[in-house]
Parts: sequence; C-alpha cells; structure tokens
Amino acid sequence: MTNDTKFTTMLGAGAYNANSSLQLKAVEACFKLLPITKPHLNSEIITIVDYGCAEGFNSIIFLEKLVEMFSLPSSLSIIFNDTPANDFNSLASTLYASSLVTTDRVGPRIMPSFVPMSYLEQVQPTNSVDIGLCLTSLNWLSCFQSIRSSPLSEAQVSAVAKQDLSTFLGARYQEFHPGGNLILSIPIDGEMTLKAVHRALERAIHTTFGQSVAAAYQCPSYFRQSEEISSVLQAFTSKWRVISQFEQNIEHPASAQFRASLMEGPDQPSQAALQACVKAICSFILAVFGPTIINTARAFGETSADGKTQTNQELLEMIADAYQEELLQVDWRRPVGCRFSLLKLQRV
Ligand SMILES: C[S@@+](CC[C@H](N)C(=O)[O-])C[C@H]1O[C@@H](n2cnc3c(N)ncnc32)[C@H](O)[C@@H]1O
Repeated sequence: MTNDTKFTTMLGAGAYNANSSLQLKAVEACFKLLPITKPHLNSEIITIVDYGCAEGFNSIIFLEKLVEMFSLPSSLSIIFNDTPANDFNSLASTLYASSLVTTDRVGPRIMPSFVPMSYLEQVQPTNSVDIGLCLTSLNWLSCFQSIRSSPLSEAQVSAVAKQDLSTFLGARYQEFHPGGNLILSIPIDGEMTLKAVHRALERAIHTTFGQSVAAAYQCPSYFRQSEEISSVLQAFTSKWRVISQFEQNIEHPASAQFRASLMEGPDQPSQAALQACVKAICSFILAVFGPTIINTARAFGETSADGKTQTNQELLEMIADAYQEELLQVDWRRPVGCRFSLLKLQRV
C-alpha cells in the first residue's frame, strides 16, 4: 500500500496475489474466450496490454496461456498497467518468478513494461495495441478512487459506471489496431453475490471505528446490471464488435470448500472448516478493500492509541478481528461469490 492520495489500491506486498482466488477463477473462465483471432499485424511485434494488473499473479496466468498461441513474431511487448498507487515492486517480483520471462522459455521473446496511469486515459500510443485484457477491474469506479465524506446514491454510482465504461472503451479504441481483441471480465449483480460478506464488513467497520467512519464508508466495488453493460456496448457498435459474451456464477473457493465439507461430515459443520472459510474470506475482502477502509478510518475516525498514531498494519489487524467475528454469523450454507460477465470484443 502506498501513500498516493489520488488513488486507492489493493493491499500490496503479496497480499493481493495470495488472496485473490475468486478473481483467479474469473481468469480461468476467460480461457473460454480463447483463441484470439490473429491480430492485425504490421510488424514483428505484438503488443498486449493488461489494464488493471494489480500484483500480476492472476493476469500472468492468462498471459501465459495467451502467449502459447504465438509462435511467429519474434517479440511480444507486454504492458502492465495499473494506477500509480499499485505495488509495482510486487508486480516485478511476480513477473520475474513466472515463466513469462525465464531465459530458457521457448517461443517469442517477451519484452515487459509497466505503465502507472489510470486506464481512463489513453495509456498507449494511437493504433499500437493488438490485444488487451481488463480482468475484474471495471467494477472499481473512478468515484471510489478517493475517499468521500458521504456515500453516493445508487443513481449517481450507476451514472459513473456508465461513464467509466464508455471512457474506457473510447480510450482503447484510440490505442488499438483495427481487428485487435479486448478481453473483459466484469463482476455483475446476480444471484451469486458477496452481499452477505459486505454487510458483515460494514458491521465490523462500525464496531471497530465507530459511527462516523461507518457512515462515510462505501464499498468501492460496483456490480453492474447486465443491461448497464449492454447499453454501453450498444452505443459503441461502430467502434467495438462483440465476438463472444457469456455470464458465469463464480463461487469463492473458500465458500465452495466449506459447503463441500457439509456434505461429508455429520450434521454440525466442523469448527475448523468454518474457521478456515472465515479466515480466507476475511483475507480476500481486506486484500481488496483494506486500503479504502484504512483511508476512510484515517479521514473520519480516531486512529491513535496512547498518543501514538496506529500503523496501517495495526488498523488492519483491528478490522480483521472484528470482521472474522461478524463473518461467523453469516449463513455459509449459501454460496458466496460473484456473477461475471465475460466478453471478447474486436476493434472495428
Ligand atoms: C481486483 S484488482 C484485479 C487485478 C487483476 N486483473 C486480477 O484479475 O486479479 C483491480 C485492479 O484494477 C485497478 N484499477 C482500478 N481502476 C483503475 C484505473 N482507473 N486505471 C488502472 N487500474 C485501475 C486497481 O488498482 C486494481 O489493481
């Protein structure tokens, strides 16, 4: 976690990588969108951009699959993009531990680069990109990047969601070669939901930091209705063609594992299985929302004890303790996860 005040971020130092198994399932669902039709090539280099890469572990799994498809060009330029607040040091460690850049790999040579910019701007030169990915990131809206004193209404958030997706597609239209492919996985509203664990988080924020922080806190992730995505795509038909699109429910692996344990054992769920599930969900939610919670607590609450300012780590431990207590009250017989819209678009 960095101190950039304009942008919030995922927890860094490996915490996002280690606690994003739900997002990894969404990456695996995107394999169904492969193969990519041959991009428009006017040189020996193929340029791939990962928009909203975080610490990279999940995207690199997709990129490894993607680069297997290309034997011809001598070089693949892979550009990792995220906001300047992202932990790019951790991304570098993840990348250099992966097979993408090992010296003995067969296939095209990979040339990586990092671009710390908001993808709501053009981040690459005009007509330069062949393939783009944006995986589990477009739910993170521009209005949630900085801390606000009071939550926005649903109508305001929905308007920002529409504007952000339009701005994103407009910027990519500038960057892509005609014929280039864009893979998107977007969390949406549906029957598979994280609502129960979000409500538990709100109660834990209230218990830990008090009413003023709880009143200011707003979950920084927006789950669009499918129609909100289709209406934006409709407005872009002259720029982006939908090649494939499907929706999929993705249960968090910890929820699935706990529910599987109910099938095996006696009537009472095992305490150990429940504790493991609660711990995993707590780490997952705090890896994504922890920095926003800390920023909100610092802006609107009391974050000193015994005359000393509490560290981010201390604040995280406080919220984690309260959150795990709340998560024990959730009905874990119901699946917890998220519905995703998965899309392959082609630049007209
Ligand atoms: C939940 S993570 C997803 C990371 C990775 N793609 C995956 O599938 O695990 C969302 C990422 O999107 C990034 N993000 C959100 N808004 C962004 C923006 N406007 N520009 C660039 N990155 C953004 C966040 O900083 C975060 O790292």
